[in-house]
Amino acid sequence: MSKPLRKVVFPVAGLGTRFLPATKAVAKEMLPVLDKPLIQYAVDEAVDAGADTLVFVTNRYKHAIADYFDKAYELEAKLQEKGKAELLALVQGTLPRHVRAIFVTQPEALGLGHAVLCARPVVGDEPFGVILPDDLIWNGGKGALRQMAELAEAEQAGVIAVEEVPHDQTDKYGIVDASVIDDRSASIRHMVEKPKPADAPSNLAVVGRYVLPARIFQLLDQTTPGAGGEIQITDAIEALLKEQGKVLAYRFEGTRFDCGNKAGLVRATMHMAMQDPALAPTVRAFLGNL
Ligand code: UTP
Repeated sequence: MSKPLRKVVFPVAGLGTRFLPATKAVAKEMLPVLDKPLIQYAVDEAVDAGADTLVFVTNRYKHAIADYFDKAYELEAKLQEKGKAELLALVQGTLPRHVRAIFVTQPEALGLGHAVLCARPVVGDEPFGVILPDDLIWNGGKGALRQMAELAEAEQAGVIAVEEVPHDQTDKYGIVDASVIDDRSASIRHMVEKPKPADAPSNLAVVGRYVLPARIFQLLDQTTPGAGGEIQITDAIEALLKEQGKVLAYRFEGTRFDCGNKAGLVRATMHMAMQDPALAPTVRAFLGNL
C-alpha cells in the first residue's frame, strides 16, 4: 500500500428497509442530519482524507445522490439573481472543484462485498477507502478515514475501523479477534460475522470504514456468497489476512452514530444540534419541556 489514498468508495445500493416508507422514494443516504444529508458528511470525511475521486455504488432508484452532487443551474441562477451569496456557496460547495464523482451501478443488492467489487473498474490497481455513509463518524479534528489512511501508509497494511460495543450486541456486527499493538491499533488474527455473545472473541466490532489494497478485488471475485446469499466483505478480508499476514484493526478518534436505524439518526441529530450555538438553547429548552 505504497501509494497515498486517492479513491474512496461509497456503497449506497442497499434497500434501506429500516427507514421505510421514507426510503421508498428517498435514498437512506439523503436523510438529513440537520441541514446536510448523510452522504455529505461521508464525502467531507473522504475529502479530508485526501481523496480526489469518489466512487458511488448506487442502484437505479438512487438518482437523488447524483443530482445532489450535480450542478443545479436553475437554483444557482435564482440565488445569484437574488444576491443570496451564502446560500449559493452552500449549493455549489457539495463537492470541491478538484474532486470528481463517479457513479457505478450495482445491478442487484448482492451484499456489501459485491457492491465494493462493482467499483473495481474505477479504482483499478491502488489502495482505496470505503465509507458506509450511514455510520456517521464525527470528530472535531482529523476525520476517521484520514487517521486510518495514515496508519495504512505507515504500516503498509489494510486497516479496518473497529469500535467497542456492549457484549450483548456482538451478534449485530462483524467481531475481530486481535492482538493489541497500542491503545488504538491491533493486529487482526481472525474475524467472525455476528457471533453470539458467548462465542464472541472480543467486543471489538467492525464499523463502516475500511482502507484496503486493490488485491481485495481479486479476493472478492473468488468469494462465494455467504450468510443470506450475500457476498460478504468480511470473507474477503479473512482471505487477505491469510495471504498477507497483516490487517490492522483501528479504534478511531471520534464519535460514531449508527444512522442506519432510527435511534442512531435521532442521536446524531441531537448531537449536531448541540454543537450549533444558534440551535442548542432552543433544543435544550425543548428537551427540558419533554
Ligand atoms: P445495510 O446492512 O445497512 O443494508 O448495508 P441497507 O439495505 O442499507 O439497510 P437496511 O438494513 O435494509 O435498513 C450496509 C451498507 O452497504 C450498502 C448499503 O447501502 C449500506 O451503505 N449495501 C448493502 C450495498 O451497497 N449493496 C448491497 O447489496 C448491500
